[in-house]
Parts: sequence; structure tokens; C-alpha cells
Amino acid sequence: MAKDKTTYICSECGGSSPRWLGKCPHCGAWNTLVEALAEPAPGRHRLSALRQGLASTGTLTRLGDIEAADVARTPTGLPELDRVLGGGIVAGAVVLIGGDPGIGKSTLLLQALDALQRAGLPTLYVTGEESGAQVALRARRLGLIDSQVPVLAEIQLERIVATLERERPAVAVIDSIQTVYTEQLASAPGSVAQVRECAAHLTRLAKSGGDGQRSTTLVLVGHVTKEGALAGPRVLEHMVDTVLYFEGDTHSSFRLVRAIKNRFGAVNEMGVFAMTERGLKGVSNPSALFLSQHPQPVPGSCVLVTLEGTRPLLVEIQALVDGGGAAPRRLSVGLERDRLAMLLAVLHRHAGLACADQDVFVNAVGGVRIAEPAADLAVLLAIQSSLRGRALPTRFVAFGEVGLAGEVRPAPRGLERLREAAKLGFRVALVPAANLPRKPDAATREVLDAMEVHPIGRIEEALDIVRAW
Ligand code: TYD
Ligand code: MG
Repeated sequence: MAKDKTTYICSECGGSSPRWLGKCPHCGAWNTLVEALAEPAPGRHRLSALRQGLASTGTLTRLGDIEAADVARTPTGLPELDRVLGGGIVAGAVVLIGGDPGIGKSTLLLQALDALQRAGLPTLYVTGEESGAQVALRARRLGLIDSQVPVLAEIQLERIVATLERERPAVAVIDSIQTVYTEQLASAPGSVAQVRECAAHLTRLAKSGGDGQRSTTLVLVGHVTKEGALAGPRVLEHMVDTVLYFEGDTHSSFRLVRAIKNRFGAVNEMGVFAMTERGLKGVSNPSALFLSQHPQPVPGSCVLVTLEGTRPLLVEIQALVDGGGAAPRRLSVGLERDRLAMLLAVLHRHAGLACADQDVFVNAVGGVRIAEPAADLAVLLAIQSSLRGRALPTRFVAFGEVGLAGEVRPAPRGLERLREAAKLGFRVALVPAANLPRKPDAATREVLDAMEVHPIGRIEEALDIVRAW
């Protein structure tokens, strides 16, 4: 088969070059050119038509006249997955799901496909990583006896596309996009060019419903690199409608599915699952999952009320400050390291607590990843607690963003966070003053009566309160 012409595209700026070069001639970035299929040049007729202004134009519709139909969603049978998807799958949508190997991507999708198939939707599971027998083994383990899900063990794009066109399933899973390759490109499967081209082709196919044809919801499984980003170019994230990350500590049984991008729902929604002997089970009330059980308070531990999408979640933040060497280390698990460096500087400058010659380790318990700045106050309190060797009170929570000037800024939905903490039996809280209403209504007063709430405006105030305990 004749190879189509290839070109080289810069993964940074998108500029193209006919040859591979070490440095992009457009933006100057190094080592960013990747092979891609060349777009066929427009034919001579089209070009001259364009020049004469004869090309057909599109019709305009006023925004107010367009019917705003809410997208129809089909529940997957896994409520926790539906929550991250924004209520269920949308016809013609493309979902990319990433995560470390062994985290449970194939398990989750097989469970979802089986539930959809049983609900009467035609599905298709394309496996490139495992053989049909291996998939069947997993299905048996999941207790999916006589599952009707059709399985295609195939990695060649053209054959996958032909099957999809023939079967037109309502939902198809490609496990994984990195194993799929097209003969149009010379590069190896899993290379940036292959992943991009295959994903683009499949996406076009998924969207090409209509005319009595059913459009297909496509779920692409993607691998993540060591740095935790999806392997392949970032454009993969731009091509699809929804990007989900499957994360969690492989040593614990809890797994989180998080929406990073969602054209059909809220981002930062999170679904919580537990990996059991018989597959993934949804955890509908996870708020107290990420607390470790200390018989009595220990130094270096502070419970944070974080918000995952719409749900408040209590997570224990642990810190260990210990004598370091000439080059003290700052390590964080589940929290941003740059943010940690900033918080240590604030602690030094505004509260007079120096850890410059100490190793500082912080950890969010249970393998959760916390990106919101409202974690700042809890991180600072855990660090100072470890540094001073003094535990915070029992059943204590905190949240709030800390600024460079030492101010404590409000967190979104502060009262909801307090309410959740009160519900779980927490009794003392340090919160941004701006989160408390001047004139509390009855419901708020109930929460404030149930807890000893200390409103603070600056980090010094927080430290003064803590030192007095
Ligand atoms: P898998 O879905 O194969 O992960 P991925 O596709 O993300 O690589 O999950 C594999 C892990 O899950 C493996 O370590 C075994 C475990 N597992 C269970 O604990 N229970 C089960 O019922 C199944 C099917 C897998
Ligand atoms: Mg897998």
C-alpha cells in the first residue's frame, strides 16, 4: 500500500515542516516535531472558486432562535461514574480516560459496558492490550456470567473503524488508544503521531452519526506518563469532549475518577470506588474515607475539609519536619510542591517559624490528590504542629487559602464544608473569617453552635490561637 505523504507538526505551536528538524522553525522549541499525515492540498477548482468568491457560504441562525435542547444522557449503571460524566453518557461524545497501569480502567469500563448491554444498548469492547481470553477471564472474575458484550481483539485502526461502521454500537471502548496504529504512518504504535492520528480518526467517526445512523459514544483508554500526564500530545485532550483521570494509591483499595474536562458536565466532579475481589464498587458516602485513625491526636496531623466538585470530603494532611542535611528536602505527596515551598516562606516571614534547615514532608492520606488552594491552612497547621511537636486538638478541622501577604482568604462553599465536618463529629474549626456570614441564618447558627469555630483573617492569628492550646 502506498504511504500517504507525511509532514512534521510541532507539538508546541502546531507549525508544520516538510522535514524532521531538531528545532521547530516556527516557535524555536527543541525536539517537538512529530510525524503526522499531510492534509491533501485543495484541488485547483476549489482554489479558483474561492478566489472568485463562488464558494458556497453557510446559513446564519440567530442564537435566540436555536432550540437549546438539553443533551440526553444514558446512565451507565455505575452511579459514581455517572456523577463524573455529568449524569451519564452522551451520544456521539468522546471520553478519554487515563490512569496508571493496574488502577482498574479495564475493569471499570467492562463493568459499565456490561451494564449498558444488559440495559439494551449495543456496545463494543475493542481490546488491544489483552487477548479475548484475558478479557473473558476478567469478566468471569467480575461475576458477569454470559455477558453479551461483543469483544474485538484488534489494533489496526482501519479494521477497527470498519467494524465500528458496520456495527454502529451505541457505546464503544478502545482499550487502549496507545496500542492502535494506522498503516498510513510509518511510526510505531504508541508514538505521538500514531496516537494523534488514530484518535482524530475515531473521534470523527463517533461524531458522524445522523441521517438515521446512530452516533457512537466512544471511550478511549489512555496511558499516563511517569509525570502523571496523558501520554501522547496534549492535543488528545483538546480533541475529546471529556477527560477523566482514574487515580488512587494501588496499595489502598480506594479509587477516584475525576473529570478534568467535561463539555457535558461540571469539572472536578469526583467518583469514588473501592476495588474489591469482584470488581469496583461505588462508594456513595466517601466523606470520611481519607482519615487515618489515631487513638489520640498526634503532632503533624491536621484534617482538611476539601471540596471535590460538589461534595465536601475530609482528608487528613500529615506533615513531618525533621532535621535535614546541607540541602534540606521538600517532598509532597498528593499536594503541589511549589505550593509547599510558598507556604513555608509565608510561615517563616509572617509567623516567624523557620524550617530552612529542615526536611519537610507532607502527605494527603489515602492517595488523594488535592489541587485546591483551600488546603493551604491545613498544610500550614500540620507543618507547624510537627515543627513544634504539639498536636492539634481532637476532632479539629481547618480550611482556607493562604496568600503571600499572610492573609487567609475564604474557600468556596465554606459553610457547606463546616456542616459536613459537624455532621461527622468534628468539634473545633479554624476557618477564614470571610467564610462566616455576618448575620447567620438558623441553619448556619445550628452549625456554629455545634462547633467551636475560630474565624481568622491572618496566619499570625491562627498561630496565636494554636499556641494557646
Ligand atoms: P485493570 O482493570 O486491569 O487495570 P488497568 O486496565 O487500569 O490497567 O485492573 C487490574 C487490577 O485490579 C489488578 O491488580 C487486579 C485488580 N482487580 C481486583 O482487585 N478485583 C477484580 O475483580 C478485578 C477484575 C481486578
Ligand atoms: Mg487495562
